[in-house]
Amino acid sequence: MASRGSFSNKLGFILAAAGSAVGLGNIWKFPFEVGNGGGAAFVVLYLTFCFILCFPVMITEIAIGRKTSLNPVGAFSALGFKNWNIVGKLGLFCGVLILSFYNVVAGWAFGYFIEMLMGNFEIGQAFGEYIKDIFKVGAYAIVFMFSTAFIVSKGISGGIEKAAKILMPTLIVMILGLVVYAMTLPNAMKGISFYLVPEFSEIDMGVIGGALRQAFFSLSLGMGALITYGSYVGKDDNIVSSAAYITLMDVGIAFIAGLMIFPFVAFNLGGDMQQVTEPGFGGPGLIFVTLPGVFENIGGVLGILVGSFFFLLLSFAALTSTVSLLEVPVAYVVDEHKVGRTKAVWLVAGVIFLIGIPSLLSGGYSEFFSNFSRIIGVADTIDADFLSFVAATADVLLLLGGCLIVFFAGYIWKKHNLNAEIAQGYKGYDNSFVKTFLNFAITILCPILLALLFVMVLLNNFFGISII
Ligand code: TRP
Repeated sequence: MASRGSFSNKLGFILAAAGSAVGLGNIWKFPFEVGNGGGAAFVVLYLTFCFILCFPVMITEIAIGRKTSLNPVGAFSALGFKNWNIVGKLGLFCGVLILSFYNVVAGWAFGYFIEMLMGNFEIGQAFGEYIKDIFKVGAYAIVFMFSTAFIVSKGISGGIEKAAKILMPTLIVMILGLVVYAMTLPNAMKGISFYLVPEFSEIDMGVIGGALRQAFFSLSLGMGALITYGSYVGKDDNIVSSAAYITLMDVGIAFIAGLMIFPFVAFNLGGDMQQVTEPGFGGPGLIFVTLPGVFENIGGVLGILVGSFFFLLLSFAALTSTVSLLEVPVAYVVDEHKVGRTKAVWLVAGVIFLIGIPSLLSGGYSEFFSNFSRIIGVADTIDADFLSFVAATADVLLLLGGCLIVFFAGYIWKKHNLNAEIAQGYKGYDNSFVKTFLNFAITILCPILLALLFVMVLLNNFFGISII
């Protein structure tokens, strides 16, 4: 174990895993997915999925990782099922896809930090132009990938853990402050009721699929990121309570990010929340268009301070996520191909940056990549640009991965082995309700529902076919 490194203690692991989970998914993606999904009904489904379907998957991933002390590909082989390492490879592929576009968005966020510092609040209105300026946003993306690679090259407890420990709490305090400010603005309550008062009649396949995809993405599940992080966890740590903390932190931060953003949006729109659900308004631009106007409204030096600090923290939140995304393929190359850590890091980061170039060009610079989905004939249930296409593809693969991971644990590796791993570090597990629920979840609930939903989301997102 020593040569691979490990987290220094349970708190270090929880914070790093929560750092992986908390990122652009919570603050950038969650609000616009809620907007697309029509508001509060989406939020209710999202919360339900997180606790009922995702929580068992999270425990399973961490347990597989800790049992084997390996990356997702090696882990399946080490348990004696070499054929199943295809699930790990799928996860690896998925992680590469996610990092390729995520890094681009993280670059936007970092660039906004600089724009805010210079007091350029007009950038919100000029967001469309901003992402077309590919030399600028490209440079930010390079800076971001470079920083990610630097931290990952420092190893587990030195880099990843330290960064997460300081930055996460600061971000939470900052968002809470903005929530309080948001509540004082005109029309704030219209935003809140859009966010929190559900209209269940609005639920359709798009809303269900969107909520499930968001749950998986936000919790970093389905691709083995938590198998990898689990591989650095101590044998006497309690996996279940760790997973509970990680889930609560992630869901909590997404939730308060919503409390912050929807009053702001309502303020900007003069209370007409219907516009948020219309295609073309929300989407990937939502926070980038909305927030600068809010900071301008705060005004003066304070506006500049709050605005720049916010985007700086958002960049850091993104950084603890990109770090986890890069860590997976790096751990794979280090474990399975015996390449040194530093070399593996720079190699993999470089390749993923290149794979992200089409996403970089898809904000209007390249006609082809900006209209990619329409050109190749994908249904208009996903946005046309290449970045959104890759994001949707990765999301769907996460569902597949999650389904296969629980199926594997329940039926191939067998649940008594999973239980034995979980029981280590959790006294009383064997007689607990948690065990009963978990066993039901991994053998019946999750495999069946995830398989069904995977097929339904695939048909809906890519072919525009809706079963319900
Ligand atoms: N969960 C992160 C976010 O919300 C993104 C992320 C990091 C991720 N690692 C992942 C998503 C692994 C899926 C799988 O921003």
